[in-house]
Amino acid sequence: MFIFTFMTTIASPPILERLSVLGDETRTRILALLDGSEFTVSELCAVLQAPQPSISRHLKTLAAEGWVEARAEGRNRHYHLSPQLDEAARALWRIVHGEVGDASVYRSDAERARAVLEKRRMRATAFFAESAAEWDRTRAELFGSATGLAPLLGLIDPTWVVGDLGCGTGALTARLAPFTRRTIGVDRSEAMLSTAEARLHDIGTAELRCGELESLPVADGELDLAILALVLHYVVDPRAVLAEVRRTLAPGGRVLVLDMRRHDRGAGFSDAMGHVWPGFELERVEAWLADARFGSVRVQPLAPDPDATGPLLFLASARV
Ligand SMILES: C[S@@+](CC[C@H](N)C(=O)[O-])C[C@H]1O[C@@H](n2cnc3c(N)ncnc32)[C@H](O)[C@@H]1O
Repeated sequence: MFIFTFMTTIASPPILERLSVLGDETRTRILALLDGSEFTVSELCAVLQAPQPSISRHLKTLAAEGWVEARAEGRNRHYHLSPQLDEAARALWRIVHGEVGDASVYRSDAERARAVLEKRRMRATAFFAESAAEWDRTRAELFGSATGLAPLLGLIDPTWVVGDLGCGTGALTARLAPFTRRTIGVDRSEAMLSTAEARLHDIGTAELRCGELESLPVADGELDLAILALVLHYVVDPRAVLAEVRRTLAPGGRVLVLDMRRHDRGAGFSDAMGHVWPGFELERVEAWLADARFGSVRVQPLAPDPDATGPLLFLASARV
């Protein structure tokens, strides 16, 4: 008589696999630490007061099951909770963490972890204590000189249609467009527009239109925000242009004008760049905006940029 033995491997449902991973206290202590912070293996050893081979073995299991990931930096690997963790695993972890997180061993871990993180914070503090004089240059070198005001882009309502009027080569259009429903760059110079086109061709929310500020190729009320950056000193009749800009704004829409304050650099400077106006007195811009029936008019001088060689600037804002 033959006896056949069938060996079948039945995979455990994911929840059981996950429970078996979470069933080990060292692993849940590791997860509690990595939930919100990154630690290296040696930092985890110090916090958990456990030998390195044991911590490495648990990290290997957690990584194999998708709970944690590591990023390499120099000779260290920094572990963190995996951002790819699915919602079921997160929910399970929240339950387990909620149950065990208050136990004294987890609280002691958290206290030792704070000391490790404090050591890192001290390194940053020491760095800035020594680099205050250099920081502006380092920041510009590392991240570019335009980063300073970048957080303000988050204030733009993503439903807005923005007009960058006199957009030139589209530098501002390119920065604004990803934060808006649409950003329309308008300029009359085909040469400037073709440079802008090359810069904007893969930004889906950017659009270019060729036209004059005096008769904008923009429908009534199409814009939520109109920006005139360094262009008003090129127009012969700024008051008429501001009235035309108002036509293109929706109720509650805003206009921003960035331009030069009145300067006395002489005709040589203005002629070289084809300027029509040698900048503006702030009161004059304020009066023009009021004449164009804008409300909430505000015209403010901007602080000088130490690296700039041109005239001082102002920023005007107003609402329909
Ligand atoms: C100094 S550039 C500024 C470009 C851009 N706004 C910036 O901040 O870099 C002025 C731009 O305004 C455009 N421009 C001047 N007068 C204009 C007008 N009346 N209608 C349309 N575009 C005009 C010029 O062609 C030029 O591209």
